[in-house]
Amino acid sequence: MNAAIRGCVRAGLKAGFEIDGIMRGYAGLLKEEIIPLNHRSVSNIISHGGTILKTARSKEFATPSGKEAAVKILLKHNIDALIVIGGDGSYRGAAELWQKFDYPVIGLPGTIDNDLNGTDQTIGCHTAVNTALDAIDKIRDTAHSMERVFIVEVMGNKSGYIAVEVALGAGAEDVIVPGRKFDYERMCRDIKEGNKKGKISWIIVVAEGAGHAHEIANTITTMTGLETRFVVLGHIQRGGTPTGQDRIMATRLGAAAIDLIQQGMFGKAVGVLQDEINVIDIKDATHKEFRHLDDFCHLIKLLT
Ligand code: F6P
Repeated sequence: MNAAIRGCVRAGLKAGFEIDGIMRGYAGLLKEEIIPLNHRSVSNIISHGGTILKTARSKEFATPSGKEAAVKILLKHNIDALIVIGGDGSYRGAAELWQKFDYPVIGLPGTIDNDLNGTDQTIGCHTAVNTALDAIDKIRDTAHSMERVFIVEVMGNKSGYIAVEVALGAGAEDVIVPGRKFDYERMCRDIKEGNKKGKISWIIVVAEGAGHAHEIANTITTMTGLETRFVVLGHIQRGGTPTGQDRIMATRLGAAAIDLIQQGMFGKAVGVLQDEINVIDIKDATHKEFRHLDDFCHLIKLLT
């Protein structure tokens, strides 16, 4: 997210705009936490995880009166357009500002979940997948040495994207994702049969939206009699040094948002599709079907 902020600020200043930053997302906007940003404000942030503007969730903004108040504050501060960097909730809020209040917005996809339309990847997803892979590589050492089954729960909200990418990249034996029927008996049969043939470690990745790691671990122990451990990776996936791919994409997206503002194009979400900047209506960007979900799951099983 910092790379996106930097891209917006530096490209915006070059375009002759004054740039303000809104602290803590919509929650901070409603408290008028607005600060001027200059060239130096974004020095040396491209390599840092998190966001210098901080972030928060806001129940108040989700209400119609909250949005009305937000627009009044933006106008009071002479802010002509708002660039929102966030996930589906932030996008839905921004879409309403545009559709119901005619307030000019641009959305940039900032979420590890990769669940927004109009972009191959969202900012942070690549870093989160790499962080999870790094953790699983370490867990595999114990799984292998102690001959255990491990359930690793990854984030991703209702999207199974992180889970399948991580399962494929880690060489996991199975993946459990939201919205896809999972056969626990088949998995336990596979584990027992594999065990008889000398297979000694199993890593099963579960998306947080598909089940709880501790419950799944209990089920496996009960059904197979094998010692099973679970790890919930949680928020470590949301921090750390951003990957090169994330920094580069976020930087391009920040500059692209300024381009759109210069062209007077609003109510849009900017993404990168097949390495090209892609622009769609923000109202159409708030969800995404993961088209290759079944192929990925099939491949994970094929290679086990
Ligand atoms: O939407 C991004 C995300 O990281 C999800 O993957 C996760 O479910 C959620 O946010 C966690 O939110 P919080 O930090 O508020 O618990």
